[in-house]
Amino acid sequence: MKDGIYFDNAATSFPKPPSVERALLDYHRNIGASAGRGAYPRAMAAGRLLDETRRLLARLFNIPKPDRIIYTFNASDALNLAIKGIRWQAGDTAVVSVMEHNSVLRPLHALQQRLGIKVHQVKASPEGIVDPIEMAKAMDARTKLIALVHASNVTGTIQPVAEVGEIARRKGIPFLVDAAQTAGALPIDVRAMKIDLLAFPGHKALLGPLGTGGLYIRDGVELETLKEGGTGSQSEQEVQPDFLPDRYEPGSHNALGIAGLKAGLECILGKGVPSIRALEESLTRQFLEGAQRIPGLTAYGPKQSGAQVAVVSLRLGDLAPAELSYRLFERGGLMTRSGLHCAPGAHRAIGAYPEGTTRFSFGCFNTPQDIQQALNTLQTLAG
Ligand SMILES: Cc1ncc(COP(=O)(O)O)c(C=O)c1O
Repeated sequence: MKDGIYFDNAATSFPKPPSVERALLDYHRNIGASAGRGAYPRAMAAGRLLDETRRLLARLFNIPKPDRIIYTFNASDALNLAIKGIRWQAGDTAVVSVMEHNSVLRPLHALQQRLGIKVHQVKASPEGIVDPIEMAKAMDARTKLIALVHASNVTGTIQPVAEVGEIARRKGIPFLVDAAQTAGALPIDVRAMKIDLLAFPGHKALLGPLGTGGLYIRDGVELETLKEGGTGSQSEQEVQPDFLPDRYEPGSHNALGIAGLKAGLECILGKGVPSIRALEESLTRQFLEGAQRIPGLTAYGPKQSGAQVAVVSLRLGDLAPAELSYRLFERGGLMTRSGLHCAPGAHRAIGAYPEGTTRFSFGCFNTPQDIQQALNTLQTLAG
């Protein structure tokens, strides 16, 4: 269906590569079984698929042991496991930034209510940048978790993850990175960046289908289980196996989705993350330069393609963000998203609260012609 131009890749990527569609069909036709639940060829093929995909993820993120990667159903699922799996006690603290998504803030808020933990939200500049020194200042003797979004889903701002990782490792505090907007779009090296917990979706820049994601847990970081159930291993025991990935993967896997994710990863690794980044950076630069010339248009964030991922939030005159999104679709077939994008603190930081913004987010299948069409439509609406 060619219904317009898709600019909502920060929500989920579209289109997916044809190889992803083929992988889904191939799984349905030729595998179909549940992994780790049988010794017949189809079940073994499903098991191999899970292992191979874990190895590709490990290669992409420089993870030493693929078994330290847990399959989840999206980034929120991974963030919940990372955050709620910590052995919290009343009075413990978490240090995060105001730029976090609700998928970090809400689980922490629930723990605040249930267990009496404290959450320190470190402020950001009007461009959405978080200062690692401010993060360090917010840590105390009771800090059990530091979490930072790798790039904002509102402004695209890339955060100083490696600097915060350095501080966290020196203090021996687990460091969680929300890579919802960067996995597949920016190079990520968990060893160099000193990341202990990496939460990522499979369905955004990794080009896999909805219903996929994962959490990397560094060796030595202990998390409580949030769910227990069958794993096809140590079935005589009442307790959950203590080895990974089984400890955190009860129940049947989304093997169909993982088949698609594997094809998405092969596409990413084939193109190379640096070349995807170069393409998305040039689309963002083209858009930001053109947007500057449109009267009444305010763009938020760093407004420098090198300092942000391919996400741009904007306002046009005094048009409400939802109205602008509607008109962009009506006039130019442009698919954007409006509102607070599940990150109210980010909007407060940039001065766009409570109305929010209209967000354009580009993907590796967008073209310079798409960007030009977006600019033309904005220009027409600006009058
Ligand atoms: C920064 C950020 N974190 C977390 C999430 C949640 O991701 P998912 O939809 O895969 O749960 C999103 C989704 O847009 C996001 O942008």
